Amino acid sequence: MCGIVGYSGIRQAVPILIDSLKRLEYRGYDSAGIAVFNESNVEVYKDKGKIVDLEKTLPNIPGNVGIGHTRWATHGRPNKINAHPHTSGNISVVHNGIIENYQQLREKLIRSGYQFSSETDTEALAHLINNYYKNDLVDAVILALNDIKGSYAIAVLCGNELVAARKDSPLVIGIGENENFIASDIPAILKYTRKMIFLDDMEIAYVAPDKVSFFDTGKKPIEKTMKLIEWDLEAAEKSGYEHFMLKEIHEQPKALHETFAGRISELEGTIAFDGLNLKEEQVKDINRISIIACGTSYNAGLLGKYLFEQLAGIHVDVEIASEFRYSHSSPGSLVIGISQSGETADTLAALREAKTFGGRSLAITNIMGSTITRDADSCIYMRSGPEIGVAATKTFMSQLGVLYLLALYFGKGKGKISSDRMKRMLVSLRKVPAQITRILSNKELIKKYAGIYSSSSDIFFIGRTLNYPIALEGALKLKEISYIHAEGYAAGELKHGPLALITKNTPVIAIATKGLTYDKMVNNIKEVKAREAPVIAIADEKDSEIEKYVDAVIRVPATDDILSPMLSTVVVQLLSYYTAKARNCPIDQPRNLAKSVTVE
Ligand code: AGP
Repeated sequence: MCGIVGYSGIRQAVPILIDSLKRLEYRGYDSAGIAVFNESNVEVYKDKGKIVDLEKTLPNIPGNVGIGHTRWATHGRPNKINAHPHTSGNISVVHNGIIENYQQLREKLIRSGYQFSSETDTEALAHLINNYYKNDLVDAVILALNDIKGSYAIAVLCGNELVAARKDSPLVIGIGENENFIASDIPAILKYTRKMIFLDDMEIAYVAPDKVSFFDTGKKPIEKTMKLIEWDLEAAEKSGYEHFMLKEIHEQPKALHETFAGRISELEGTIAFDGLNLKEEQVKDINRISIIACGTSYNAGLLGKYLFEQLAGIHVDVEIASEFRYSHSSPGSLVIGISQSGETADTLAALREAKTFGGRSLAITNIMGSTITRDADSCIYMRSGPEIGVAATKTFMSQLGVLYLLALYFGKGKGKISSDRMKRMLVSLRKVPAQITRILSNKELIKKYAGIYSSSSDIFFIGRTLNYPIALEGALKLKEISYIHAEGYAAGELKHGPLALITKNTPVIAIATKGLTYDKMVNNIKEVKAREAPVIAIADEKDSEIEKYVDAVIRVPATDDILSPMLSTVVVQLLSYYTAKARNCPIDQPRNLAKSVTVE
């Protein structure tokens, strides 16, 4: 989730590259760099920190062709060596995405005599293109891409030649007068041109000042259609969505795809984590886990509890971080701190407290180099990409993704999951991003129901077992952005008090996907219907029974029961978003809240 720019034209490249990079910084980045052909060779400048810091260090570099990058670290810490561009001989590369087989490529290239200086996956790509280069840059890029597994948007500079390519990561070509541009995001180059050509997967562009040629991976020329972008800059930053929250909800298939990238082998039924220093054999000794987190991350942790208990047979306590500090009870032998920002003061303080009891600690976070990564013994990155909306959406989804993988990994280590079940689960997990895309395509129906109930003053979300954390998350999301009083409840608990609040004016969102407690959930729905509450059920697309008991049904694709919470999540997020929109609330910046809560 980094930013790419490229320029080939009649103007000086450096001011355009720097200006374009600055337009991507609103998403938050940690290092930057450029490579420019100075009329005899390519000069590379890069550093940790903001683009203005890089700009201050730049000498006057003449030259009309170049590439630039803002990095949001995924492989290797944010520092100068890991910053892009990465070079090999005459080849310079900037890259977004994850090369899943970079370790194997790295070893092969080292055997062929290449030396690596960074911890990144991208450096392997630079060496690979160099290895194949025989005076034709397009040929070399195509051959290198054939060897790569994973996702990429790349810009490659060799002398004054510029080539771009993509797979599963966006890239657009901007068309100007005697100049052409490359960008990962439209806002980067909108100031220079509104004429854009969007690269599709497995397409390559050769970008010269007066012409852009497009090829498939067999080097067959392709005709592309140009689009005129009419968005203003603000709309472009949100990719045309009205709010960052909606954009980020739509980015969930990609976020989850990145969370899984390089970590799953369905064929072998194995899971591997880069940052986890806990081998499958060592998992046997862990009999109790404590999860510590706040807000949305706590809700993810609660689902984690069900997953570890069901898949690995390990008892889990989930603690609200601000309470754990004062509980004086000893945590499990593994403490997991979950924090998308990695800077939440309550979570950091609780994790430090937990460490005083001995035992191991593990952080699950989205931000490389954040404080939690330094405090914990090991760390797993969520890889959601930058999240700007205060309401956590895609980071919650990636937290769930990591927890599913972790629980399965522990299940295997504990001998609780057969190899066959593991393979089946991994195949089903891989399908989740596409199933989320299907739910997103059905959002008009969700918008309609949100509109109907947006004037309510109280709304309940109910679920049982695995769906209970999603009920909590739905209620948190709704109250956070729409200011409607919302309760998330374990459905079986309603009759012990809250049922007194249920009337015909209290809509109930019932998460009723198939599973162990489905029949009991239907009974709970009948209880609220008997009090005349309007009920919207979130149910499997194959469930033909549920509509008899409720006022409306929002369907999610049928999947392995244990995975359905990821799908229901998208529905509760969209319901909350459209409710807040119908009430005209400031969705991306709700009152009294901040994205990162650094006070206790
Ligand atoms: C969720 O929408 C909120 N913004 C909030 O509950 C958040 O999840 C909480 O503050 C924890 O943040 P963290 O994940 O960065 O630690």
